[in-house]
Amino acid sequence: MATADFLPPFMFLLLFSIFRTTLSTNSPDITADQSALLALKSHITHDPHDLLATNWSTRTSVCNWIGVTCGSRHHRVTVLDLSSMDLTGTIPSQLGNLSFLHSFNIRHNSFHGSLPTELTNLHRLKYLNFGNNSFGGDIPSWFGYLGELQSLPLYMNNLSGVIPSTFGNLTKLQVLYLEQNNLQGK
Ligand SMILES: *[C@@H]1O[C@H](CO)[C@@H](O)[C@H](O)[C@H]1NC(C)=O
Ligand SMILES: *[C@@H]1O[C@H](CO)[C@@H](O)[C@H](O)[C@H]1NC(C)=O
Ligand SMILES: *[C@@H]1O[C@H](CO)[C@@H](O)[C@H](O)[C@H]1NC(C)=O
Ligand SMILES: *[C@@H]1O[C@H](CO)[C@@H](O)[C@H](O)[C@H]1NC(C)=O
Ligand SMILES: *[C@@H]1O[C@H](CO)[C@@H](O)[C@H](O)[C@H]1NC(C)=O
Repeated sequence: MATADFLPPFMFLLLFSIFRTTLSTNSPDITADQSALLALKSHITHDPHDLLATNWSTRTSVCNWIGVTCGSRHHRVTVLDLSSMDLTGTIPSQLGNLSFLHSFNIRHNSFHGSLPTELTNLHRLKYLNFGNNSFGGDIPSWFGYLGELQSLPLYMNNLSGVIPSTFGNLTKLQVLYLEQNNLQGK
């Protein structure tokens, strides 16, 4: 009788601590990824094929969303490929929270505006493709702080100004396409 009285609260405490550990190691991180992607979704003003409108639903894990790939080990967003989806919109600062992202491809869309500084937090980025969009403003100098970058196509946008000297830091860079912008300087 004494054992039966003792066990349930003990088991409850045990289960509770396991649950809490699981929450604190996984949930907040993938939750941050989810809110970053939902912020992006809310910055899409035209989605003619309704690709994100129905598919990017909180009823399913972000890892099942179209264009999204998660790492098998840590279960965080590693690849975001929204290329050729005919999307119009801007890039919100929250995207800088996708801290495990190593590939980000939005080529062949109509994204516009400037690129938020917060993207400089994506220090794992290797492949970044913004080609054939309508981004404006100066080429951000913070690209030069993404030390893992191997590929950076920025062709066919409306970027202006000079090529930032920080690009000299990109020692792993193999691909840089800048044609059809409004660049100047040497
Ligand atoms: C979203 O799209 C992906 C990839 O096409 C698909 O596997 C998934 O089932 C879709 N989810 C929903 C809720 O439509
Ligand atoms: C994500 O990014 C935004 C803006 O950069 C920031 O305010 C927010 O606290 C970040 N964290 C989460 C978990 O959304
Ligand atoms: C640019 O992207 C549009 C879709 O937004 C596509 O129709 C067009 O063929 C692309 N142009 C080039 C030169 O890739
Ligand atoms: C391109 O940027 C310039 C300013 O640098 C602006 O005057 C022009 O309207 C922009 N063109 C397009 C098509 O957005
Ligand atoms: C990147 O380059 C700039 C200018 O070329 C330099 O001042 C800066 O210290 C470099 N930063 C890093 C992180 O390498």
